[in-house]
Amino acid sequence: MKMKKNKQVTKANFFLHGGDYNPDQWLDRPDILADDIRFMQLSHTNTFSVGIFAWSALEPEEGVYHFEWLDEIFDNIHQIGGKVILSTPSGARPAWMSQKYPEVLRVNASRQKQLHGGRHNHCFTSPVYREKTQQINRLLAERYGNHPALLLWHISNEYSGDCHCDYCQNAFRQWLKETYNHDLKALNDAWWGPFWSHTFSDWSQIESPSPIGERAVHGLKLDWRRFATDQTISFIENEIVPIREITPEIPITTNYMADTVDLIPFQGLDYSKIAKHIDVISWDAYPTWHNDWESTADLAMKVGFINDLYRSLKQQPFLLMESTPSLVNWHKVNKAKRPGMHLLSSMQMVAHGSDSIMYFQWRKSRGSSEKFHGAVVDHDNSPENRVFKDVAEVGETLEKLATIVGAHRDSDVGLLYDWENKWALDDAQGYGLDTKRYTQTLQQHYRPFWEEDISVDVITKDQDFSNYKLLIVPMLYMASEDTIRRMKSYVANGGRLVMTYISGIVNEHDLTYLGGWPKDLQEVFGIQPTETDTFYPKDRNSVHYKGKSYEVHDYATIINMLDGTAEGVYKQDFYENTPAVTSNHYGKGKAYYLGARLEDEFHRDFYQEIIDELDIGPVVDIKHEKGVSVQTRQGEEADYVFVMNFTEEDQQILIPSQLTDIITGEVLIGELTLQKYEVRILISK
Ligand code: GLA
Ligand code: ZN
Repeated sequence: MKMKKNKQVTKANFFLHGGDYNPDQWLDRPDILADDIRFMQLSHTNTFSVGIFAWSALEPEEGVYHFEWLDEIFDNIHQIGGKVILSTPSGARPAWMSQKYPEVLRVNASRQKQLHGGRHNHCFTSPVYREKTQQINRLLAERYGNHPALLLWHISNEYSGDCHCDYCQNAFRQWLKETYNHDLKALNDAWWGPFWSHTFSDWSQIESPSPIGERAVHGLKLDWRRFATDQTISFIENEIVPIREITPEIPITTNYMADTVDLIPFQGLDYSKIAKHIDVISWDAYPTWHNDWESTADLAMKVGFINDLYRSLKQQPFLLMESTPSLVNWHKVNKAKRPGMHLLSSMQMVAHGSDSIMYFQWRKSRGSSEKFHGAVVDHDNSPENRVFKDVAEVGETLEKLATIVGAHRDSDVGLLYDWENKWALDDAQGYGLDTKRYTQTLQQHYRPFWEEDISVDVITKDQDFSNYKLLIVPMLYMASEDTIRRMKSYVANGGRLVMTYISGIVNEHDLTYLGGWPKDLQEVFGIQPTETDTFYPKDRNSVHYKGKSYEVHDYATIINMLDGTAEGVYKQDFYENTPAVTSNHYGKGKAYYLGARLEDEFHRDFYQEIIDELDIGPVVDIKHEKGVSVQTRQGEEADYVFVMNFTEEDQQILIPSQLTDIITGEVLIGELTLQKYEVRILISK
């Protein structure tokens, strides 16, 4: 394992605490703006994201600018020692612009021009929109670039979606020409052209996928998604031209998203590519705490997973850009956080590498669709309510944790997540249409490490595998020859590699490998998978592995052994007694293939053996029951150990050696009781 270094992602040597602040909604209420400043101090907040949707306040008419109100906000925040995260306003545009330049409006996949309204719906190619965005960004950078309160740039808001207008069609064709070296045959080959007569005889015939017809051409869909990511990057690069020029020392971020139920990374864009164009990863987290379909601990595990993915994208601390101090307004049921949960859920983000706790939103708006979304300041305009006090408690806690800012997380375990793979796998018409569950499968492999308090980096395929003693690659359906070669040399050089069913099936064009499993994989694993058996939801098989029997559901691979070793065998069906779990020594390393989707208990037992063999246990071995999570950040001076009770009961834990509670100063050893949702943050020197 290569040792990581600490890194402060902004100039602040304190945790950022605050949130999206929309004073532009209250410009005719100076009393409210004055209360804001007062409440900011009372709530122990220090950083505010401004201007996110303020374009119509900044430029109410074309070329007519109003910055005075923002000047005042900057100065007022600065006066109380606060910082500003300044947003570029491209997430939503003024009506005059849509009216005068309809090209800025997006065209949907059915080729319908969208009307003005809503947000996050610009054309990402439109020359006018690019020009207007750059113009306003330049003015913002010129005006606030030297302001002492300016800490970070927030580029646009939650980039998403695509546009099917003529500009975008042309840009797509241009992108294809560059990608395929102007060779139309190469494109037709990559897209398996003759299928349903989809061979193109001229570039001009190619269009973005329509909602129905072109869905069948997987290569086209895949390339369109890649183009959408690249075109978003090109839009970002255009936005930041004046920012890089005028404020080269101010870092930039753009806020990422995730699905709220299963914490599946946002799928519209390949975030691993965008990560290379920004300085800091930030994201907006809205887990459904206290839901009625899973335990708090199960949800906490998934939150851990996505944090470890977003942290690993740049291998440095990230920022929580938005969260809610209480509830949201867009879940199916918008439930309030129970007492203790706000502090606990915030500390979990910090434990996994966040250097901020920021909220959407500072103050609830009076009208429109987000007026019931949780906020630090409610419609009562009072600091005397539960939510405000919860926020202040988080603020006070963060103030005491300042030495943790910039601390990293060392991991011996890499777990590979790939956006393109998920796109291709979800497209694949085969297997079980509802049971592919790629991200959930990664979470299943993440779980045993989370339960054992072992840090995992959730990495992407462009990263260096040799940083890890153990590399886990579940369901890598789409694996390019290059990725396969890199996995092979990882094992040859001593790495431990785990792969599963439905891996190594297609190349980067979504074309299947011919002549059986790729030869490189056969060599590394010593096997040849021959068939994937897909189960109905109630179908079961079982695998006998090292004296125990484990349940199989959804998928079972039938394996032809070459020179590998069968570690576990199926117990039923026509492939009874054939290998299900295999291992193989290759070069200086070892490779395991898990042919079946097995129950959690199997993963616990299987990975425990590897954990013991590789000696990759937790930093501090605190004994506890399931539902308590211990996560560590490593600073220059000490390790910081977050002990979190994600259960509704008191929990006894056992601390093996003296640790100091960073908040209370108590020295702790031996038994300790954690109350429901309690979190303790301990220093280990
Ligand atoms: C997103 C947006 C915010 C707000 C919140 C509500 O994260 O970025 O502007 O709409 O959702 O949860
Ligand atoms: Zn467009």
